[in-house]
Amino acid sequence: MKNNVKQDYAIGQSDREALNKHKPCLVWFTGLSGSGKSTIANLLEKELYKQGIHTYTLDGDNLRRGLNKDLKFTKEDRVENLRRTAEVGKLFVDAGFVVLAAFITPYNEVRKSIRTIVGSENYIEVFVNTPLEVCEQRDVKGLYKRARAGEIKNFTGISSPFEAPLKPTIEIQTLKENPEEAVKRILKLLDSKI
Ligand code: PPS
Repeated sequence: MKNNVKQDYAIGQSDREALNKHKPCLVWFTGLSGSGKSTIANLLEKELYKQGIHTYTLDGDNLRRGLNKDLKFTKEDRVENLRRTAEVGKLFVDAGFVVLAAFITPYNEVRKSIRTIVGSENYIEVFVNTPLEVCEQRDVKGLYKRARAGEIKNFTGISSPFEAPLKPTIEIQTLKENPEEAVKRILKLLDSKI
């Protein structure tokens, strides 16, 4: 990068770890709309909060109301949405937080670049695996119905692809496991990480 010199800070990640008494990381939830990403992330955050862990949640719907409000659902815009979010996640990790990010994240190449941005030692990928038919049947927000009617373009699973993650750190099959059980498994994994 021309004319840009990286500045060093007086206080770094290890200082913050000492202050917080835990390590940071980014827990990235990927899955179809309505798969249960936000439900599990919220429950996980509550448990971590109880344990005195410093957390912050980044959620697709919410970031798209502010930082990413110029972006739609074309492949190009999704890639940019997720790149920006990964950079924000990296800043929060640097600030010492356990970050929970809930985004559809439909492409394997994007998941790979999120891992690279945040550093693989800081990255946990949680695949919230709920079959499309089930998400569509639940249709909590009524979006699948609208997508089938052609009112929403590029809808994931209907008119836009979702690539199943190749090697998630954890896979949660929501038909076989309830959110409490899923959170328990994620907490166990985090125990050795943070
Ligand atoms: S992505 O693919 O990761 O960039 O998507 P994300 O930022 O997570 O945004 C997903 C939420 O946006 C709503 N929504 C749509 N989802 C998928 N496809 C289309 N076309 C679309 N339009 C709006 C929807 O509420 C998603 O929220 P979740 O929580 O996943 O259901």
